[in-house]
Order: sequence, then structure tokens, then C-alpha cells
Amino acid sequence: MKVLVTGGLGFIGSHTVVELQNKGYDVVIIDNLSNSSAEVINGIVKITGKMPIFVNLDLRNKQHVDGFFNQHKDIEGVIHFAASKAVGESVKDPLLYYENNITTLVYILQQLTELKRKNFIFSSSCTVYGQADKLPITEDAPIKLAESPYGNTKQIGEEVIKDTCCAYKDLNAIALRYFNPIGAHPSTEIGELPIGVPQNLVPYITQTAIGLREQLSVFGDDYPTSDGTCVRDYIHVVDVAKAHVIALERLMENKTVSNFEVFNLGTGKGSTVLEVINSFEKVSGQKLNYKIVARREGDVTAAYANTTHANDVLGWKTELSLDDAMASAWNWEKKIRG
Ligand code: UFG
Repeated sequence: MKVLVTGGLGFIGSHTVVELQNKGYDVVIIDNLSNSSAEVINGIVKITGKMPIFVNLDLRNKQHVDGFFNQHKDIEGVIHFAASKAVGESVKDPLLYYENNITTLVYILQQLTELKRKNFIFSSSCTVYGQADKLPITEDAPIKLAESPYGNTKQIGEEVIKDTCCAYKDLNAIALRYFNPIGAHPSTEIGELPIGVPQNLVPYITQTAIGLREQLSVFGDDYPTSDGTCVRDYIHVVDVAKAHVIALERLMENKTVSNFEVFNLGTGKGSTVLEVINSFEKVSGQKLNYKIVARREGDVTAAYANTTHANDVLGWKTELSLDDAMASAWNWEKKIRG
């Protein structure tokens, strides 16, 4: 069974390729290497013993997208990760985000509807909820006005898929709303490779501990939470990857209730920034150099998932803990800097 993974050399994409190949799927990766490295393929091969097909293709080129699908008529499912994901960059360059995240989605869906290939999984985000009124967050929580062009692309992306599924009943799609994926593969063959200064908490922690950054800034300790720092639902990337395989099987086995379904991917447990730092210090045996600074603009106070829908309907739940994720992130950091 052949599966296309766009953005398959990225952080979540590469872990998903591993899980797919471990389950016997034949994977074709499309990636333009704009935020990834071709060396990731070596890591995938080391873990799985199998070489995926890799096509260096820019999905913003409609002719290339059409040509690709014409050459690969036997693709049974598409998992679409390829997208830009930096909130700050999206504010500075919104059109880049609408082009990278929306135009490419439209081109792929055009092919799927034309060629009657129906199984599609979309990388969405808990960012669509903004600061939810009720915690934990269920999938039917209202979609709030997006905080950034990046967040807007995830909202619009879901709308585009929903409308397309309404018009083309053959199309069968699932959007997975990730909370905060972190960590690395336990083999330390693949992991997160942020380019430049990391914007996200966990790579910033590990880069500080390894000596690449001087100090972690904790953005605000005056939030209405247990210790004053923001709460997020940190989920191990391997658990996230496995959810994609289960979602794909749900599509392929026609188990879906409607032809557009949405699931939260989280642990259901919120952790504060200080709890994440504590977990890191515990598993690494290292003290982390950090200081409390002012709040970061755009941060919500707390977000964590209600996982009932994913557990009961998708039949997936997380298996790994925050400590597992922090230990794997640290092992990965040590390996790549070693
Ligand atoms: N944080 C720090 N210091 C840092 C980096 C982050 O204190 O150097 C804090 C943030 O304030 C936040 C928490 O750590 O409280 C998590 O921050 P991340 O940037 O790792 O993650 P976010 O929850 O802000 O971002 C995630 C996704 C985005 C998405 C966003 C929407 O990474 O893609 O959720 O809420 F847009």
C-alpha cells in the first residue's frame, strides 16, 4: 500500500514515515528541504531498514504537483504535513504562509478529487481553539479568531477540506489537531532540527543545556495557573506519529462516520513551563539556566486536550510520558551536537 507523506523529512513527518514503514506501508516523501535536511532519510533507513522514495518537489508548483500524481497513480493515501509553522514569521510575511499552507493544500485536493483518490490526513493545530473557554478542550469547542496568519492557515485549511468533502463525497479526510509535539525517536536517529534560534520551549531548553544558548527566558510567571507559568499539553512525537497510522487505517478501512472528521492529539494533561523544566532537570541530571521575563505576546494561558474522542472513536491514546519525551529530546540534542 503506497502512501504519500508531504513534508516527510520534517519533525513530525519523519517520525510518521518511520511508523508507516514499520507497519509495512510503502512511503513516498515529497519535501522541498526548505526547513529540513535530506540526511533525515539516513535516520529513517537506520530505524526501519527501508528506503522511502524521496521526491524533492515544491508543492507551490501546480504543474509539478499534477505531474507527480500522474506518475504515482497507485497512491492510496496522502498525509499532508508540508507547511510553514513559525508564528512570528507568519506575522511578518503572511502571503508566504497563505501560499505555502493554503495554495499547496488546494493543489493536492484538486488532484485527489480528479483522480478519485480519497484518503487524506491534514496536520491541524490546537491553535484553532485560541484561549478556549473550557478546559480540557473538546473538538466541538468554538474556533476563535486566529491569533496569527499561521493560525489562520490552519483554520482556513480545515474549512477548505470541509467544503471539498461536502462537494466530493468520495473524498475521505481527517484533520488532526496537534497540541504541543516534542521529543525525538528513542533510537536518536531522527528528531527536531530547528533552523536558527528555536521559538519553541523544548528545543530552547535542550540547546541551553548543551551550551548553544546562554539562558532560557520563561515568558511570564503571572498567569492564573498553579505556578504562574503557561500550561500546555506536551505530547511525544512518536505518539503523534502513531496516531497518523491509526487515522490512515480508519480511512482505508472505511470506518469513518462522516467524510470529514477531526481529532485532538494530546495527552489530556496540562503541564506548566516550570514543570517541563523540572522534568528536564530530573531526566538529564542537569540544572537549567533560566530566568523569568515578561509575557510573550500572543501566548494563551492554558491549553490541553480532552482526549475522549481520540481515545474512543479513533482508538488511539498516548503511551509515552513527559519524562520520556524530555529524555528523548535531550538524548537527541547530545547526539547531534556530539
Ligand atoms: N516558552 C518560554 N520560553 C521560550 C519558548 C516558549 O517560556 O523560549 C513558553 C511559552 O510562553 C509557552 C510554552 O513555553 O507558554 C510553549 O511555547 P511553544 O512556543 O513551545 O509552544 P506554543 O504553545 O506557543 O506553540 C504551539 C505551536 C505553534 C502554535 C501554537 C498555538 O508550536 O505552532 O502552539 O498556540 F501556533
